[in-house]
Amino acid sequence: MITVLFGTESGNSEMAADDIAQFLGENGEEAKVVPMEECDVDKLSASGLVIVITSTYGEGELPETTQPFYDALCASKPNLATLKFGAFGLGDSTYETYGNGIDVVASLLSELGAHQIGETGRHDAAKGVSLSQSALNWADQFLASINRRAA
Ligand SMILES: Cc1cc2nc3c(=O)[nH]c(=O)nc-3n(C[C@H](O)[C@H](O)[C@H](O)COP(=O)(O)O)c2cc1C
Repeated sequence: MITVLFGTESGNSEMAADDIAQFLGENGEEAKVVPMEECDVDKLSASGLVIVITSTYGEGELPETTQPFYDALCASKPNLATLKFGAFGLGDSTYETYGNGIDVVASLLSELGAHQIGETGRHDAAKGVSLSQSALNWADQFLASINRRAA
């Protein structure tokens, strides 16, 4: 079971989470979508494999529902050595702090011992590609990475 955690300000990250979970489901991987604010960080290490999805807001800051998740991780500092994660970020390259949010969250997970699988995916709202297309392209690569590891 892959847990797809999303944090958002205006809902785009949730749409990406839904697209990615659906794609994984259609390709033989069970996936469930969970809002970051509903995640108990002390139980996160038991999740096995998660995908974290977040946008960037303000001036390179975390969006509304990612911040509490990030703060809870900082406060609790769980040992995430058994956790593997993929990362997908939403942003806009017209901002100097393009995609900072996902980098901040991925760095913290790594600091806490979690192992990242594959490259961090990025959707750039300033480019012509649709969010769904970016999300599905990344999900396809992510699936290949987990299948390579399992082989
Ligand atoms: C007020 C505002 C500030 C933003 N600041 C940033 C930023 O600093 N860096 C960035 O990469 N994107 C920034 N963005 C772009 C958002 O990350 C992008 O629109 C994203 O799709 C929003 O996803 P969400 O609905 O899941 O929050 C900003 C967007 C708005 C409206």
